[in-house]
Amino acid sequence: MVSSSSNGPVVVVIGATGAQGGSVVQHLVGSDKNYQIVAVTRDTTKPASKALADQGVKVVSANVDSRDDLDRVFKGANIVFAVTNFWEHMNFGKEVEDGKRIVDAAKAAGVSHFIWSGLEPVSQVSGGKYKHAVITTYARESGLPTSIVQAASYMQNFETLLAPRKQPDGSLVFAVPMTPQSKIALLDTKADYGAYVREVIEGESFGPGSDVLACAEELSLEEIVSQFNEVTGAKATYHQLAHDDFLAVAGPAGQEILEMLLWFQDFGYFGGKDIAPSQKELAVPVKTWRDFVRQTKWEVLA
Ligand SMILES: NC(=O)c1ccc[n+]([C@@H]2O[C@H](COP(=O)([O-])OP(=O)(O)OC[C@H]3O[C@@H](n4cnc5c(N)ncnc54)[C@H](OP(=O)(O)O)[C@@H]3O)[C@@H](O)[C@H]2O)c1
Repeated sequence: MVSSSSNGPVVVVIGATGAQGGSVVQHLVGSDKNYQIVAVTRDTTKPASKALADQGVKVVSANVDSRDDLDRVFKGANIVFAVTNFWEHMNFGKEVEDGKRIVDAAKAAGVSHFIWSGLEPVSQVSGGKYKHAVITTYARESGLPTSIVQAASYMQNFETLLAPRKQPDGSLVFAVPMTPQSKIALLDTKADYGAYVREVIEGESFGPGSDVLACAEELSLEEIVSQFNEVTGAKATYHQLAHDDFLAVAGPAGQEILEMLLWFQDFGYFGGKDIAPSQKELAVPVKTWRDFVRQTKWEVLA
């Protein structure tokens, strides 16, 4: 099936083989509007790249650490979507440099709509307690027509680091270093992130300059566990982990993740912003936590 059009705006998607960018490609492919989609990867031979090519999407090779690569793939682009993957290197300096390089290249290429997967400018909201989102500010101030589509916490995190675990006595426990009343903004990212990017491109009240929160719903940890139990019939409980206990199991990124979770707890995932306006012109419905629990194969319940 040829699913990327030969007319319509040229949309370059950085991160197209990943969760967010992959979702962006699928939602634009599924749109009733035409797009010429260019999927960027460092490796055009990997299975995720081949799957895109098989769908009729143009797949090109580029590394965001190369300005030459970015200039090449942005040539002729009308819209650029970009996400950087902090967790691959966990180097805050590199994250900022890559982000600025992408912004500079998009601006030089005359891109008319730059869509950035940013996060809240946390240091401004929390008075410097947490640091993040320098690139968001840089993009905004660069003069490039920039929209921000912030990804909520992936529901998929509850299949990995935040997954419920069987205890030696057979009971099932969700253990997270936050109070049970703390709310988490949730998104089935692989399925639904692209719906918000499509909204920013196509929605009448959106367009360049938008600030969208890609979030299906905000639930407290208590609600997350009780809905999990309702849907699966399990009897999981919630345990507020001590910080040290979390750090002992969270791996090398533990401190960074703990800071993020404490940010959600203290200031709200989106710093207290209302998610309702971001749902206004979604072309397709997005999945709730209940939907996600229902469709997920929970190994721990097998
Ligand atoms: N987990 C959460 O709850 C959460 C919530 C909000 C935001 N985030 C943020 O989401 C970001 C990750 O996005 P994701 O989940 O979509 O990542 P992902 O699924 O791991 O995919 C990463 C994508 O980035 C591409 N990429 C990485 N380095 C690249 C480079 N140097 N040059 C070109 N492409 C490169 C990869 O392409 P190739 O490998 O094919 O080259 C891949 O397509 C992280 O920065 C994280 O902070 C996460």
